[in-house]
Amino acid sequence: MERKPEPELMEDEAQALAYAQADFSEAHDRFVALFTECFPGEPGFGICLDLGCGPADVLVRFARAHPACRLDGIDGAAAMLALAQRAVDAARLRDRVRLIRGYLPGAELPGRDYDAVISNSLLHHLAAPSVLWETAKRHARPGAALFVMDLLRPDTLARLDELVERHAADAPPLLRRDFRNSLHAAYRPDEVRLQLDAAGLGSCRVAVVSDHHWIAFGRL
Ligand SMILES: C[S@@+](CC[C@H](N)C(=O)[O-])C[C@H]1O[C@@H](n2cnc3c(N)ncnc32)[C@H](O)[C@@H]1O
Repeated sequence: MERKPEPELMEDEAQALAYAQADFSEAHDRFVALFTECFPGEPGFGICLDLGCGPADVLVRFARAHPACRLDGIDGAAAMLALAQRAVDAARLRDRVRLIRGYLPGAELPGRDYDAVISNSLLHHLAAPSVLWETAKRHARPGAALFVMDLLRPDTLARLDELVERHAADAPPLLRRDFRNSLHAAYRPDEVRLQLDAAGLGSCRVAVVSDHHWIAFGRL
């Protein structure tokens, strides 16, 4: 099935709120657990960058799992960042988390030597996927950890419908629509492999971790 792009930024307030209110706890806890599995025995990460942080649910979970880590989260959508600030405040993480509004590529980021770059569900929004890999390379210190998770585009429309039924049967219509569009816009693991190789990140690995997710991880 051909990739069908969706808009990059999630600027619509209703859309952002529906996304922020959805229960992604299983996938987001898995994100944090898989990160730990991929980088075992690390003494800790000083400062970490979350690309396309959205409403900061992943960022908050990651911050709680890494209490010594400071985090910068960047997103281009004001509606998402307002929700992210609320989540950060509610989690009492204001002293460890900075939220930055910026469109990638081109956004001004405060750091050039991040110890880890993480990103969940940004890649499928990007018209030029190299933006994610190049941003990570440009802003991380050599040897920093890179961990990205995203949706996996199914082979066929029938399979796409099946996944929407399986994972979003009871979701509000807006969220169901977005999940469907996102699956259609997602990159496949073989495409991600080519992206990593083209970005000079050939040592990074790609693995399928559920019926609709893959991860990419390695050292920058
Ligand atoms: C599906 S959400 C994922 C949010 C969060 N990482 C999570 O997993 O809950 C994708 C986010 O990426 C942001 N985004 C998409 N393209 C972007 C770009 N080119 N620059 C900055 N942010 C972008 C959107 O505004 C949206 O908040």
